[in-house]
Amino acid sequence: MKFTTIIAAFLAPVLVMAATTEEETIEIMASKKGQLYVKLNKATKLTDKDLFGKSDPFIEMWIEKAYKQRSKDTKGLNPTFNETFCFYVRPGQNKLNIRAVDKDTFINDKIGETSISLSNVISTGSEGPQDYKLPKWLGFSDNGSVNMQMQFVEDNS
Ligand SMILES: *[C@@H]1O[C@H](CO)[C@@H](O)[C@H](O)[C@H]1NC(C)=O
Ligand SMILES: *[C@@H]1O[C@H](CO)[C@@H](O)[C@H](O)[C@H]1NC(C)=O
Repeated sequence: MKFTTIIAAFLAPVLVMAATTEEETIEIMASKKGQLYVKLNKATKLTDKDLFGKSDPFIEMWIEKAYKQRSKDTKGLNPTFNETFCFYVRPGQNKLNIRAVDKDTFINDKIGETSISLSNVISTGSEGPQDYKLPKWLGFSDNGSVNMQMQFVEDNS
């Protein structure tokens, strides 16, 4: 037997097992639907986009763009929100998008944006409170972070 064949013989069952587990996980997640409650606590060290005035940041969140939700307007680079948002998660949806925006008189400027996985909160029921970084560029640095906690209540109907 050639060496590669031996390796293949050893690996095959492992790969099949790995594939099955992943498929099962995806299947379980894909079949779940329910309410996602997101408590937005605060943001920290938001990058200052406003060269002339004060920053007036707000946060946008969405799973589906058509159902985007928005926080109140705040002031400064470390604003407190203390706001809760509720989303309906459909089977197969597992990403929450978060964007920090500086409200400006003419054009709103994006401060930072990220997309967080809902796999953990969907399978365990809760996540956080924790900081979610808004990456600056390829994740080497960040334009601030958003502190949130999430809860998922499965809808079995
Ligand atoms: C936000 O919530 C925290 C904890 O519940 C509280 O200590 C703080 O005073 C609240 N801040 C505002 C601005 O509502
Ligand atoms: C982060 O801020 C910098 C400086 O304002 C900006 O150039 C960059 O595009 C921002 N990154 C993201 C992902 O918005």
